[in-house]
Amino acid sequence: MTPVLGVGVLVSGSGSNLQALIDAEIEIAAVASNVEGATALARATVAGIPTAVFALADFRNRDERDGAMAEWLSARGVELVVCAGYMHLLCPVFLDRFPGRVVNVHPALLPAFPGASAVEDALSAGAAETGATVHLVDEGVDTGAVLRQEAVAVIPGDTPATLHARIRSVEHRLLPEVVRELIAS
Ligand code: GRF
Repeated sequence: MTPVLGVGVLVSGSGSNLQALIDAEIEIAAVASNVEGATALARATVAGIPTAVFALADFRNRDERDGAMAEWLSARGVELVVCAGYMHLLCPVFLDRFPGRVVNVHPALLPAFPGASAVEDALSAGAAETGATVHLVDEGVDTGAVLRQEAVAVIPGDTPATLHARIRSVEHRLLPEVVRELIAS
């Protein structure tokens, strides 16, 4: 039988991508967040997944926070980490615990429009298309190797909200597909 990697998910916000993983019946061992009260944590709890909050304010620095978070995930059998709307960079102390096994979903066709305002930036630039990318995480801002991406057309009259909604629906399909492949590889 093919061994299956334990999956952990990092979240900061609404958690619709976490929900897509849950709905795809991907087994999730643990969900961690940097944001107390994030809606994503409630989704995890409803699904019976252990959660924990690692707010930066509770630690002396990012290294200590990321080290504690890595420790908590490892203790729950996590070997593959999925950043699903996790809005902080990860320190080497974290990435080194899961070498080549941290992935992120980003709402643009990387390397175009990295960073936290990718949807707004694509609209401001007048891009005819943008999209969704699943990529490996390194120390940079959305700079790791691309694993999968799919274009989404920008429609005249799009607002950040309407465009992001169409991108999210692509993310909800791509992310579970990629995670499923990674856990079976
Ligand atoms: C997604 O669009 C993802 O690409 C970006 O943040 C958003 C998170 O959405 N990194 P959600 O919390 O999964 O609903």
